[in-house]
Amino acid sequence: MKFFIDTANLAEIREAQDMGILDGVTTNPSLMAKEGITGKDNVLRHYKQICDIVEGDVSAEVIATTFDEMIREGEELAELDENIVVKVPMIKDGVKAIKYFSEKGIRTNCTLVFSAGQALLAAKAGASYVSPFVGRLDDISTDGIALIEQIVGIYRNYGYTTEVLAASVRHPMHLIQCAEIGADVMTGPLSVIKALLNHPLTDIGLAKFLEDNKKAANK
Ligand code: E4P
Repeated sequence: MKFFIDTANLAEIREAQDMGILDGVTTNPSLMAKEGITGKDNVLRHYKQICDIVEGDVSAEVIATTFDEMIREGEELAELDENIVVKVPMIKDGVKAIKYFSEKGIRTNCTLVFSAGQALLAAKAGASYVSPFVGRLDDISTDGIALIEQIVGIYRNYGYTTEVLAASVRHPMHLIQCAEIGADVMTGPLSVIKALLNHPLTDIGLAKFLEDNKKAANK
């Protein structure tokens, strides 16, 4: 399973990269705004900085919502770095843009996916990744994990190569459940990945090992 982090914060991205388990980064316009990155030149510069830190795919989202504008924006993003994946919303012009990009060899991440039908459209258009939002579905009392399972099954039925990127992952159980049902990738805050480290028996065991070692050394 690939681990992506969902942030535009360079310090967090560096920290995750340093851990040695990072496979990529996803961003969205809200995350860029959170870091105060606005204006085309600043946005492009920021994406380039992210690509320089990460050894892996970096999803950069288009702001445009019409086909022609998405193509122009997406091509500009893709030129920044070979690891850029153009993130395109699941709307009619978005599906058309994904098809165009896939024929041009530009990789895409179809975002804002909330149903199996949308995921099927993304795969048929040739998306490299599909991003169903687990947490946002859970927020409205709909089972986000069940959607991931459904999409994994559908893609397997037809051999689609689109990778299922479980997005909006909010806690470690989301991550574990996504791994159990075979999601190709997860993306969420770095805190979710770091939470995997925690187990009280690990802490107790380590404290005991260190204490015993100290006692033996002092004998
Ligand atoms: C996906 O790529 C989105 O950026 C993201 O995972 C959304 O997560 P959120 O619902 O926690 O904002």
